[in-house]
Amino acid sequence: MNPIKVGLLGIGTVGSGTFNVLKRNQEEIQRRAGRGIEIAMVADLNVARAQEVVGAGVKVVSDAREVIANPEIDIVIELIGGYGIAKALVLEAIAAGKHVVTANKALLAVHGTEIFAAAQAKGVMVAFEAAVAGGIPIIKALREGLTANSIQWVAGIINGTTNFILSEMRDKGLDFGVVLKEAQRLGYAEADPTFDIEGVDAAHKVTLMSAIAFGIPVQFDKAYVEGITKLGAADIKYAEQLGYRIKLLGITKRTAHGVELRVHPSLVPTQRLIANVEGAMNAVMVQGDAVGTTLYYGKGAGSEPTASAVIADLVDITRLHTADPLNRVPHLAFQPGAMSDLRV
Ligand code: NDP
Ligand code: HSE
Repeated sequence: MNPIKVGLLGIGTVGSGTFNVLKRNQEEIQRRAGRGIEIAMVADLNVARAQEVVGAGVKVVSDAREVIANPEIDIVIELIGGYGIAKALVLEAIAAGKHVVTANKALLAVHGTEIFAAAQAKGVMVAFEAAVAGGIPIIKALREGLTANSIQWVAGIINGTTNFILSEMRDKGLDFGVVLKEAQRLGYAEADPTFDIEGVDAAHKVTLMSAIAFGIPVQFDKAYVEGITKLGAADIKYAEQLGYRIKLLGITKRTAHGVELRVHPSLVPTQRLIANVEGAMNAVMVQGDAVGTTLYYGKGAGSEPTASAVIADLVDITRLHTADPLNRVPHLAFQPGAMSDLRV
């Protein structure tokens, strides 16, 4: 079977990670998807830099609309970010009958209702595992693994940049601005880092999780949002002395009066697991009535951790296009000869 053809819009931090991981793990990914996945066309404003990342074999253009107009492309990955051009391109891709994979939590938290409705009307998927908690498969956990549960609450550290800043300020006594610059250099921060430090990025993510967990519309405008910009070194030090660690938490909770949606710095007792989540790591706890409390931990930002989630969505969509009359999960199918690869 021919590989499924993918068009990639924006090949910066996450886009280049996606291209590199797909290439590096191509055989395994193909085995799991049941079909090859090929990035056939890339759009980026900086064509020369993009061409350097993908090599001469992949067509690079500066106009993303050329990718969307290509009838060979089945899936469009949007990794540009923001609400502006990204929104127009996602809606145009849907209108052209393409499935969309995006890591753009800002776009979905603000315009998700419109975008999901357009996708439903057109019969295509909009997949966004990478939009929440980077490499942690929390969307899949909420949608699939915990689907039997009535969810009571979801809470956690869902912004890597701010957790990195708080950790580095505490451990190394570094200045807020210095650590923020380092987070930008490492590719953790948003293009506009005020989204990170003012809690907006975490609120985008908690809005998406809330919609899935409680079956409510995507309502970013209802969230209470407070970031870490008012915190100083003294707050962090005194919290430690009292046996607490300051963490920026995103929380959504079912209450008698409706669903709460909030992001703010919180004092977490140091002996709690979540207090010890350091650097750009994320951790999300979900409380379900049947399963109790579950905890998901991993890299919440960065090139390849986020690429891991983008590609998981690509594989999911590709499986839909893989005609298997028995609907077997490809990676569980018996592979002759594979046993010799097993290691204990
Ligand atoms: P980058 O800024 O690194 O990459 C964006 C790329 O898109 C750049 O190469 C940019 O080019 C290009 N671009 C901008 N406008 C256009 C356009 N009109 N057409 C084509 N290309 C364009 O961002 P990230 O990779 O960090 O983030 C991408 C998305 O992933 C965002 O939505 C972000 O929120 C999300 N995300 C990021 C994570 C991370 O750890 N970085 C983690 C999870 C999600 P140029 O540089 O020339 O402007
Ligand atoms: N800026 C985001 C963060 C990227 O720091 O968590 C991952 O969504």
